[in-house]
Amino acid sequence: MSNGSCRICGGTVKETVNLGRQPSGNGFPLPRDIEHEKSFPLSAGTCDSCTMFQLLDDVPQEAKYRDEYPYHASGSAVHRAHFERNARRFLETELTGPDSFIVEIGSNDGVMLATIAQAGVRHLGVEPCREVADVARGRGIRVLGEFFDENTAAAIRAEHGPADMVFGANCIAHIVFLRRLLKGIDTLLTPDGVFVFEEPYLGSVIAQNAFDMIYDEHVFIFSVRSIKAMAELAGFELVNAEPVSLHGGTMRYTIARPSRRTPAPAVAEFLAREREQRLAEHGTIERFAGAVRKIREDLTGLLGDLHAQGKRVVGYGAPAKVTTVTNYCGIGTELIPFVVDSTPSKQGRLVAGSHIPVLEPGAFAADHPDYAVLFAWNHAEEIMAKEQAFRERGGRWILYVPDVHIL
Ligand code: TMP
Ligand code: ZN
Repeated sequence: MSNGSCRICGGTVKETVNLGRQPSGNGFPLPRDIEHEKSFPLSAGTCDSCTMFQLLDDVPQEAKYRDEYPYHASGSAVHRAHFERNARRFLETELTGPDSFIVEIGSNDGVMLATIAQAGVRHLGVEPCREVADVARGRGIRVLGEFFDENTAAAIRAEHGPADMVFGANCIAHIVFLRRLLKGIDTLLTPDGVFVFEEPYLGSVIAQNAFDMIYDEHVFIFSVRSIKAMAELAGFELVNAEPVSLHGGTMRYTIARPSRRTPAPAVAEFLAREREQRLAEHGTIERFAGAVRKIREDLTGLLGDLHAQGKRVVGYGAPAKVTTVTNYCGIGTELIPFVVDSTPSKQGRLVAGSHIPVLEPGAFAADHPDYAVLFAWNHAEEIMAKEQAFRERGGRWILYVPDVHIL
């Protein structure tokens, strides 16, 4: 166990969970590229001072966010509906001026900005991964193909003027240089502007033993307390925290310049709840790490038993989470011969490290297995509704959070 230095405040980060060496979660190499695969230590812990939960080690940005970055945010109907709702709300609450301007960091395939663009409101997506950025451009969205930092922010302000709102979803917690990002927000926002971002919530990760939310991209897992500390260090104020049901438990944070907005009661409520749950304490994370070791034992035990009984088991969904789970548990093609995923850019590739092939969902429907491990467990409702025929023919789902169980 080693300690690190906090990326937010410089305090000491104590390593409390260690998932071994792992490749990049969204690596999904082609079969011919596996010999070039790199792996990195994957361990995490909490900062003694600002309480930010974070990885100990950095994986180079460019190793993660390539031109052909395979994650498409529009891949789920539930996500599409969510981001459209978000956009409509922003149009009604923050973007009401005659020439309002919104910037989205990590705009991916334009799942949120599509609605803003249709409404004719001034916007700019900032997205360094070319393929998803091109999908968004194809939908009529303006996209700048860069990483967002203080320099990009200054260039955007010089060209477009200040932004009434900056938004980010499932990408702010990915940014190693978060302090530079906040400087950029400071440069870009109008005096009354807000920075709204929604990211997986540490309270949900701990409550569900969702250790597969830990992978190289998730440099931080935020809590209300750590975001309040971060906002204040950067000269902002946390004015709202709203739970969102995506990704197994997400929190949407709103930060503004100090004393510009009245903080919603939810901020104090969540801070009190996190104190009760002892979310910032090392002991809480150590207990989580213990539960994670038990999941590894139970899952490999179950898959080994099913294999011995001659049952066919495959995986459903190839989120980055599948990389963490299969590599941490040492699960390869002998136990799970393939996983299926609806994202075309993942099909024909392999799960990084464990080298389990990713096939299209038709491979699942064509010859239903006896069991399917649901790696995209955060989409359980949508997937189970779609794959009812599997259950009807006697197939069973295996879930491994919050513990290993069969449905
Ligand atoms: P996520 O958990 O990071 O959102 O990734 C979910 C993955 O699951 C993504 O690769 C798409 C895939 N998926 C399916 O294969 N079928 C589905 O019905 C849904 C909703 C997602
Ligand atoms: Zn800190």
